[in-house]
Amino acid sequence: MLNIETIRAHFPALSSGATFFDNPGGTQVAREVIERMQNYYLHMNANDGGAFYTSQQTDAIVFETRRAVADFLHATRPEEIIFGQNMTSLTFHISRSIARLLEPGDELVVTRLDHDANISPWLWIAEDRGCQVRWVDFRPEDGTLDMQTLEQAVTSRTKLVAIGYASNALGTINDVKRAVQLAHSVGALCFIDAVQYAPHRSIDVQELDCDFLACSAYKFFGPHTGILYGKYALLEDLTAYKLRPAGKHAPHKFETGTQSFESISGILGTLDYLAWVGTTFGAPIPDDTEQHRFLALRAGMSVLGEYEEQLSLALLEGLKSVSGLHIWGITDPQRIASRVPTYSFSLQKWSPADIAAKLAQNDIYVWDGNFYALSAIERLGLGEKGGVVRVGLAHYNTLQEIERLIALLKDMQAA
Ligand SMILES: Cc1ncc(COP(=O)(O)O)c(C=O)c1O
Repeated sequence: MLNIETIRAHFPALSSGATFFDNPGGTQVAREVIERMQNYYLHMNANDGGAFYTSQQTDAIVFETRRAVADFLHATRPEEIIFGQNMTSLTFHISRSIARLLEPGDELVVTRLDHDANISPWLWIAEDRGCQVRWVDFRPEDGTLDMQTLEQAVTSRTKLVAIGYASNALGTINDVKRAVQLAHSVGALCFIDAVQYAPHRSIDVQELDCDFLACSAYKFFGPHTGILYGKYALLEDLTAYKLRPAGKHAPHKFETGTQSFESISGILGTLDYLAWVGTTFGAPIPDDTEQHRFLALRAGMSVLGEYEEQLSLALLEGLKSVSGLHIWGITDPQRIASRVPTYSFSLQKWSPADIAAKLAQNDIYVWDGNFYALSAIERLGLGEKGGVVRVGLAHYNTLQEIERLIALLKDMQAA
C-alpha cells in the first residue's frame, strides 16, 4: 500500500494547499517531470536529427521516451508510439489516413458515452467519404454502455469501431476487449480512447489486440502532450499526410513538424515516477530482468489503483449521504471496479456552475459543464441545465479532502 505523504511530496503543486479534484481535466505533475523538462532545456535543447551533441541528446531522449511509453502500454516496439500535440489532434490526424480506406456505404461505429474527440473526427470522415455512422447508446440509469446495441451495430459494412476505455463524464469502464473482438470479427479496425483510463489502471495493447489507442500524458501526471499507439504493420500500411522530406516510416511519418521535445522528456519523467511507485510500494521486482521498467510500471499502477479504490468508495459513500444529490453513473459499491473514480452529480437548488464556484471559494477545484462529453450530457437531458459537477480523484488525493468536500456540500444543501 502506498504512503500518501511520500506520494504527495513528489508533487510540488500540492503544497499550495488547494484540493485538486479537477484531475479528469488534467493532473498535477510529478517532480520527476519538472526535472526532466528542466534538464532538457539546460542540456539538450535543439531540433532533432543533427550531427551535434544537443541534437543527438534530443534524438536519444525521444527514443528512450518511446521505449518507456511502449512499456507503459505494452506495445511490441517503440515505433508503435506516436507523439503529438494532444489526443484530439492525433486522432484528427490519423483519421485522415483511415479515411482513405473508406468507400461510400461503409459504416463507422461511435458511442454516446465518448468524449467528442473520439466522435467528431469520425463524423467528419464519414461525411467526407459518404459513409454511415451508427451510434451506440448507454443506459442513463447507471452510465453503462449498451453492449447489445454495439453487437447489432457492427455489421459486414463496418470499417471502424471507436470506443472509450473509461468515460470522462460518468467514470464507466467499457468492455473494450469485446469491442475489439467484435470489430475484428467483421474485419474492422478498433480505435480506443484511453485518455481517462490511463491515470488509473494498466493498459495492455497486446492483450486488447486493439489497432489504435490514444492517451494524453497530462492526464497521468505528465506534460501536455498526446500519445497514439498503432499496430506497426498498420501504421506502415497507412498513407500519412506528411511533408515530402519527412521520414517515410512509422512513427516519424505521422509526427508532423517539430515536436515538443521538452514535453516528450517530461513524459519520461512521469513514467520514471510511476515506475518508482511500483518499486517503492509494490512487490519486489528482480533487478536483472530486461522487463524491469515494464514490471515496475505495472506494479505502480496496481498500487495506486488499490489506494484509489478506497478513495473512490469513500467519495461514493459521502456523495450518497448528501440529501438531494444525484450521482450519474455506477453507484453500487460492489461494482466499484467497473468505474474509475470520476463522479458526476447534480444537486437540488444549485446549478453546476454555482457549486463549482462555491467550492473554488473554499480552494476545492472541480469542473462543471459537459467536459466535451457532449453526447453523454445531452443524452442525460442535462445539456440545457449547465451539465453536471465532476469530482475526479487521483492517487495523490486524501480521505480528509473528500471529507471536507462532503461537509461543504452538506452545508450548501442545508443553506
Ligand atoms: C476521454 C477523453 N478523450 C479525449 C480527450 C481529449 O484529450 P486532449 O486534450 O489530449 O485532446 C479528453 C480530455 O479531457 C478526454 O477526457
